[in-house]
Amino acid sequence: MEIKVNLNKRSDRTYKIQIGRKDFSSLKKLIPQKFAPDKCIVVTDSNVKRIYNSEIKAVFLSSKEHRSFVITIPAGEKSKSQKVRDKLEREIIKLNPSRQSLLIAFGGGVVGDIAGFLASTILRGIKYIQVPTTIISQVDSSVGGKTGINLPESKNLIGTIYQPAHVQIDIDFIQTLPEEEYFNGLAEIVKSFIIADEKAFGYLEKNINGLLKRNPQTLQYCIKQSVGIKSKIVEQDENETGLRKILNFGHTVGHAIEACSNYRVKHGFAVAEGILVEAQISNQLGKLSENDLQRIKNILEKFGLSKNIRRKYDFNSIWKKILFDKKKNKNGVGFSLISKIGKCEYNILVERYVVKSAYNK
Ligand code: NAD
Ligand code: GLY
Repeated sequence: MEIKVNLNKRSDRTYKIQIGRKDFSSLKKLIPQKFAPDKCIVVTDSNVKRIYNSEIKAVFLSSKEHRSFVITIPAGEKSKSQKVRDKLEREIIKLNPSRQSLLIAFGGGVVGDIAGFLASTILRGIKYIQVPTTIISQVDSSVGGKTGINLPESKNLIGTIYQPAHVQIDIDFIQTLPEEEYFNGLAEIVKSFIIADEKAFGYLEKNINGLLKRNPQTLQYCIKQSVGIKSKIVEQDENETGLRKILNFGHTVGHAIEACSNYRVKHGFAVAEGILVEAQISNQLGKLSENDLQRIKNILEKFGLSKNIRRKYDFNSIWKKILFDKKKNKNGVGFSLISKIGKCEYNILVERYVVKSAYNK
């Protein structure tokens, strides 16, 4: 199936998100036909390269129409750093790219964020394709054009909004994800249904076993729904001046936990913890019913995402990180909070003591 992202109704900024099974190899034809690049530069990470080396060779390196190169960064969040960015930048420039060159981000959110960032700055912008291989990258980071790297102060402090030219989502990549990465990814699916789709949240509640067993049909439904939710939001508010902020539900506290752990806590686990705290804040402010709060807690627990990771980080350190958040303004930190499952509001200033009491609950 195909989802189109229509930005400002301009055809030159519209891109397709192709979602399917076993259709990764269709890129071999699509790239020369649609983009006719002079060079293809594939950025991937050490794990993805190890698992999918033969697919990389067959799809990217065997092309007769253009030359292709593969650059591999170490796997993991630590690669979203200034140091790796500098190194990658130099390696790409050594390949002497032109504005007709195409960058391909083949991997999870780390590869997608850093490669997308470089695509937006090299030669003041070259085209790039996202080929996401984790749940987080399929349902979230590959869509919407947020790119960037982390600083020790906090997450994603340096970055751009730069849309890909195409996104190719092959659900079957999910089958090789290690257990921990798989559950880490489910957090973003849960988030997108909490903020925008009560029916899909109900589907999750009824299909827990399917997800626990990585049933391809269940996964396909969840990934397709999440991508649909995200792309509709991005179409309406590409630059996050309003509506797009609802995608940050769970992320204000989540990003602070990631930063406090020096990025040892994975994004999805931190976001799950953030969802619990921010749903609790929504409840304490009288917005969210006790019943909906309980449904959220239950689903996170069923997916093993209710880990109490936050107990390792005291609230003062978390609050310091929150104050570095991009969602702050001169009046304070704007939270995205929910009034029911399927409905989220944004720019809600919450006082420190409320966040503290929800965090310590
Ligand atoms: P990741 O890229 O580190 O991937 C997780 C792990 O899975 C890595 O070890 C990777 O090597 C491995 N892996 C990837 N694909 C695999 C596969 N098919 N089989 C086996 N192993 C595989 O992390 P992630 O969870 O994909 O993404 C997290 C990052 O995404 C964070 O940096 C987060 O900030 C960012 N993010 C960005 C956005 C955005 O809008 N740009 C949205 C959400 C998250
Ligand atoms: N991951 C949140 C966004 O893309 O806006």
